Amino acid sequence: MKLISYKKIFAIFGLSAFVVVGISATKKPEDDKPHKNLKVLSKDISDDQLETVMYSFERQLGVTCLYCHVSTKNITPQRVDFASDEKPEKKIAREMLKMTLKINKKYFNTNVDRKVNEVKPIVWCKTCHRGYPVPNVK
Ligand code: HEC
Ligand code: HEC
Repeated sequence: MKLISYKKIFAIFGLSAFVVVGISATKKPEDDKPHKNLKVLSKDISDDQLETVMYSFERQLGVTCLYCHVSTKNITPQRVDFASDEKPEKKIAREMLKMTLKINKKYFNTNVDRKVNEVKPIVWCKTCHRGYPVPNVK
């Protein structure tokens, strides 16, 4: 008698676990959303390329993502709101990016635009920043 009811419980538990797995498999991951607020980089830049650019900012300025990006408000668990332009550092970085692309194109005949993975820039953030958020020009 007892054995049968255990089996039933396992059967029900097993079925519900299957349903949960099925739902999460059909749910579209957040990462599939296109980037919403790119004004300098191409809107159809791949996630890999964007990651390469962002990690280069981190290393070459000696900062983390949160130096330019803000955390989400009123959402738990908290995430980073990468599209927000709230931090002045992000806006400066966007202008710096524009400037750096222009220096490469105008003075070094190197069109890095949108192909940061394929075309090696001559001048990049580290040329001036050398691992610091504010370059020491003295
Ligand atoms: C020095 C400043 C800076 C740092 C550090 C930085 N970012 Fe960014 N990030 C930017 C700027 C500027 C843009 C917008 C570029 C544009 O307008 O083309 C951006 C855009 C993005 C976007 C696209 C958001 C959207 O939907 O428009 C993502 C995702 C992102 N960054 C992720 C990261 C990650 C992950 C890190 C850390 C590894 C990081 N960033 C570090 C400056 C920075
Ligand atoms: C030609 C040199 C040069 C290049 C290249 C350059 N920067 Fe800068 N950057 C500067 C200088 C100089 C300052 C300081 C300006 C000041 O003190 O007013 C600065 C300041 C900044 C700041 C503000 C720091 C702060 O907290 O005040 C950010 C953010 C920044 N740069 C990001 C970038 C990024 C990202 C790149 C690469 C896409 C880049 N810079 C490329 C020279 C450069």
